[in-house]
Amino acid sequence: DHTHADTLRTPIVAVLGHVDHGKTSLLDTIRGSAVSEGEAGAITQHIGATDIPLDTISGMAGELIDPSDFDLPGLLFIDTPGHHSFSTLRARGGALADIAVLVVDVNDGFQPQTEEAIDILRRTGTPFVVAANKVDTTPGWNPQDGDPIQKSMDAQSERAKSMLDENLYEIIGQLSDAGFSADLYWRVQDFQKNIGVVPLSALTGEGVPDLLTVLMGLSQRFMKEEMAIDVTGPGEGTVLEVKDERGFGATVDTVVYDGVIRNGDTVVVGGQDEPIVTEIRALLRPRPLAEIRTEKEFEKVGEVGAAAGVKIAAPDLDQAMAGAPVRVVRDRTVDQVVDEVKAELAEIEVETADNGVVVKADTLGSLEAMANALREAEVPILRAEVGDIAPRDIAVAETANQDEHKAILGFNVDLLQNAESDLENADVKLFKNEVIYQLVEDYERYVEEKQR
Ligand code: GTP
Ligand code: MG
Repeated sequence: DHTHADTLRTPIVAVLGHVDHGKTSLLDTIRGSAVSEGEAGAITQHIGATDIPLDTISGMAGELIDPSDFDLPGLLFIDTPGHHSFSTLRARGGALADIAVLVVDVNDGFQPQTEEAIDILRRTGTPFVVAANKVDTTPGWNPQDGDPIQKSMDAQSERAKSMLDENLYEIIGQLSDAGFSADLYWRVQDFQKNIGVVPLSALTGEGVPDLLTVLMGLSQRFMKEEMAIDVTGPGEGTVLEVKDERGFGATVDTVVYDGVIRNGDTVVVGGQDEPIVTEIRALLRPRPLAEIRTEKEFEKVGEVGAAAGVKIAAPDLDQAMAGAPVRVVRDRTVDQVVDEVKAELAEIEVETADNGVVVKADTLGSLEAMANALREAEVPILRAEVGDIAPRDIAVAETANQDEHKAILGFNVDLLQNAESDLENADVKLFKNEVIYQLVEDYERYVEEKQR
């Protein structure tokens, strides 16, 4: 019902974690579908958003949730592939996600992308819980499908219990090393001060009711005020991905975090060169409980209110950037909104120098994260852009004054085919990696060796 102002919107929950630690499986279990089975190599290719209504959540949480205690409409989950930078998830200078679930494999513990996620959560001040996943792989585990974790723990042998405990305390220790005081969630009194760890299995569903309960509790208690929005205000969102869609051309998968977007609205979208002003031709929404990235047949809708994932079809979106803002103009002037978008983009614009390396990244957010990492490592940047590595990037890298700066650092991007021979013939070194700090380390090691 979009006729009342100041209704509570759905909190946005980002699911983060290292590759294969079980993010997509956890969401699959929550929405009772099996998206991951349809995925090539079970690797998530794209970012998706899934809206889980309160009814479904309370159904799954069973005895742990009394739906009458909650007035939030549900939770909007954003899945992030492990190899992808979730730093795309930004909004109006802050984090797009209201809360996050950090998925950690109980046997593997912290891994590079876990550390990277922790860094981003710390920097953005995003409240989070840890899902200690795959408890069912504990030797001798006696699975209790879909049960709350305490009940499931009671059904385990002493040996299985103590093995799991050992792994859980390892994770709690790693959180502590990362500067977060953490404990098993049922021992946490104040979720603002301590990180709750929820042991669970995405495979058997045990512990999942606990996670949903903690997430609902967190959003209800700490975020209710922020969830009060003017639901009829001009829509604001963030581009998760730019995708070609047959019959529509370039479209942008967007998470709307404020106001409402209507079909026919004039919108301003952050673009490669400058803001794109365009008119919405279609708003495409996956059906409830379906997944935006696998749904082939989209439902055309007249409007979409926050918080939701929606695919926007409009002319001229091919230059749109992942991570960039989307703003509805509505009763303001186009210039005013263009200025707003420019100001927001300026905040993330990377500082460049006359000397330095060329940086390419897949999204605005990851470009920003790269720039931060390089600044800390005192590596200057000559040029930084979103997009795949093109011939002109090689040409620019070649102009660097110092040999060590004749380098391109590519994060989650490809070398375009027409740039391959240029790279072979140029005196330019290419570094590619899907973990930011590893990319920076690779480059630093190269410079060290060069100086020897
Ligand atoms: P990326 O999207 O590639 O980063 O991976 P992900 O974190 O989404 O992991 P995904 O859900 O694809 O799971 C990776 C593998 O772990 C799959 O083979 C899953 O079946 C398995 N897996 C996930 N959760 C569990 C669990 O709770 N128990 C067991 N035994 N296996 C699990
Ligand atoms: Mg996945």
